[in-house]
Amino acid sequence: MTRILFHAPASNPEAWQRAFLQAMPEAEFRIWQEGDDGPADYAVVWKPPLHMLAPQQATRRDLKAIFNIGAGVDAILQLGDGLPAGVPIVRLDDAGMGMQMAEYVTHAVLRYFRRFDQFDAQARAHQWRFLKPHKKSEFSVGILGMGLLGQRIADALAHFEFPLRGWSRSPKALPGIECFSGSDGLDAFLRGSRVVVCVLPLTAETSGILGRVNLARMPKGSYLINVARGGHLVEADLLELVQDGHIAAATLDVFDEEPLPAQHPFWQEPRITLTPHMAALTLRDESALQIAEKIRALQRGEAVAGVVDRIKGY
Ligand code: NAP
Ligand code: GLV
Repeated sequence: MTRILFHAPASNPEAWQRAFLQAMPEAEFRIWQEGDDGPADYAVVWKPPLHMLAPQQATRRDLKAIFNIGAGVDAILQLGDGLPAGVPIVRLDDAGMGMQMAEYVTHAVLRYFRRFDQFDAQARAHQWRFLKPHKKSEFSVGILGMGLLGQRIADALAHFEFPLRGWSRSPKALPGIECFSGSDGLDAFLRGSRVVVCVLPLTAETSGILGRVNLARMPKGSYLINVARGGHLVEADLLELVQDGHIAAATLDVFDEEPLPAQHPFWQEPRITLTPHMAALTLRDESALQIAEKIRALQRGEAVAGVVDRIKGY
């Protein structure tokens, strides 16, 4: 029988057990407890502790794959040599997150484009004042990271006919999107994007990418939406650029420290909209189904999508 070992802090493990019972009734599902070093074929995890997957443990010698129940693998890859070598790490491929990301980012872009942020502030001050609409041709949206989630966001925004730009590691040709790639393409990408949406994986190359130099390349009066990781943004630099008016406003879902500390200056800055890392949640049933299908494919000796490149970091 296929043995699945599960660990995800702050999740409801019994609900995951029920989801896996539904998706893969032929498997044995075990919720990992401290000290459990029994054998398992597959680990299904989010932010596992170092010793859970430690390569010297008997459990990990049998492991055929580790499934990360999120799209981002920065937390699990931090374990480095604490991860068994040669065991594939498989991330979630969309699994319902693309739609949520599209909703979140479309809402934020439309809010800025139609100036709802300013109308809200005026309404709170009991002001009835017309504000000149932005021109759509001058409201280009640039997406940093044109992977599964970035492309889903672009598809959603295309319905509203925003000029779209995308930045990725490898060159791409995507219909209706001006594509940029690599460090050579970043400057032109940023200079022409009135809204920058960050949906990159957090890697050694992308960490701190939204610092003063790159933020200053965005046009004056531009907007930032970060739905990727707090580590992409240099928070103090954004605050300064918002306060001096270079960046008009920002919507942030992710932070260096989560929950955002009570004393953090972002709480006091009305031009920064904050949400508690909820742009795209892991959907239990969809995720269990996707993982069950991938386990079955691996057992048939087939390749699966979403295997992480440990060198690239995503
Ligand atoms: P993905 O499919 O792996 O796509 C990643 C994209 O980033 C790819 O287009 C990749 O380029 C690009 N990229 C990576 N490194 C780059 C670099 N150095 N320079 C330029 N482009 C680079 O990932 P995804 O599923 O879309 O997820 C993206 C991230 O979203 C996750 O890693 C996670 O951090 C974040 N996320 C956040 C939430 C939330 O609730 N806030 C939820 C889910 C995910 P190539 O196409 O050339 O490979
Ligand atoms: C959430 O942030 C994820 O990476 O899935």
